[in-house]
Amino acid sequence: MILRPRRLRRTAAIRDMVKETRLSPSMLVYPVFVREGRNIAEEIPAMPGQMRYSPDTFPRILERVAEAGVGAVLLFGVPEHKDEIGSQAWAEQGVIQQALAVGRRHFPDIIFIGDVCLCEYTSHGHCGVLKGETVDNDPTLELLARTAVSQAQAGADVVAPSDMMDGRVGAIRSALDGAGFEDTLILSYAVKYASAFYGPFREAAGSAPAFGDRRSYQMDPRNVREALREAQLDVDEGADMIMVKPGLPYLDVLRAVKERSCVPVGAYSVSGEYSMIKAAAERGWVDEERAVSEAAVCLVRAGADVLVTYHALSLAEWIREGRL
Ligand code: PBG
Repeated sequence: MILRPRRLRRTAAIRDMVKETRLSPSMLVYPVFVREGRNIAEEIPAMPGQMRYSPDTFPRILERVAEAGVGAVLLFGVPEHKDEIGSQAWAEQGVIQQALAVGRRHFPDIIFIGDVCLCEYTSHGHCGVLKGETVDNDPTLELLARTAVSQAQAGADVVAPSDMMDGRVGAIRSALDGAGFEDTLILSYAVKYASAFYGPFREAAGSAPAFGDRRSYQMDPRNVREALREAQLDVDEGADMIMVKPGLPYLDVLRAVKERSCVPVGAYSVSGEYSMIKAAAERGWVDEERAVSEAAVCLVRAGADVLVTYHALSLAEWIREGRL
């Protein structure tokens, strides 16, 4: 007798019955860029198939999100006016606040997540206020907290700090509680690496740093124990969920964080991961559906409870059709 693992792979029905990794549309989060203006839905050149919407056209995409059964949207604001401190981030009529208000009113079943960071709003493109040429951590905390509260006021269910300042989860938690938003969740980008894979996003959001880079506040790709420390600190400060970012190049980190944390863990498949597959698929070098599906499955297998991806709408469709 030969022992045959292959028997379990004999037919599609058997493979489907015994598969170890299962995806559902409700675990997906779709990132959306909202820019100031009216009647705008423009394609982002570095991210074929992804658009920037003005607050009035934004419901168009929400309709598709709701139809697809995608769990949540993650909103990025692209303001018209930027300044040294990024004050449009917490403006009452800021672009993200407008988008949240519209979305909340018309789409009760979608979870709305606001990205909390200053880089899209500052004239210098860094994620906090500057002292000379470096980001000043502690004064930035107050502005992030203000931004989070204003997003909660506008209707965010979840705020997601992506700035990587030390102590921001605690600062945001106490500001939310103080303003009566005890039930607003914090999804912390606890483990965010200084990555080349954010390239297309910086074009989409107009948030490339005017000088220097983000290595003094984002993580060094060579480190994994540091990721565990960042994750632990954020959980201790009150993060309800934590995220690892980017996705595919950091599967080992995702697994390590998942094994040691008792909160749900998200993975962010970032803009560069999206655009690489798009570009290769356009040239006929990879099969888009298979590459996207495989990447998503690998992220979930490595530990993602929640998956943030620009492919969320297609993935939801393929999942519902039983294709992955
Ligand atoms: C803001 C932020 C960035 C991303 C998410 N939030 C850019 C950055 O840190 O430069 C990147 C997302 C992506 O590439 O899809 N700080």
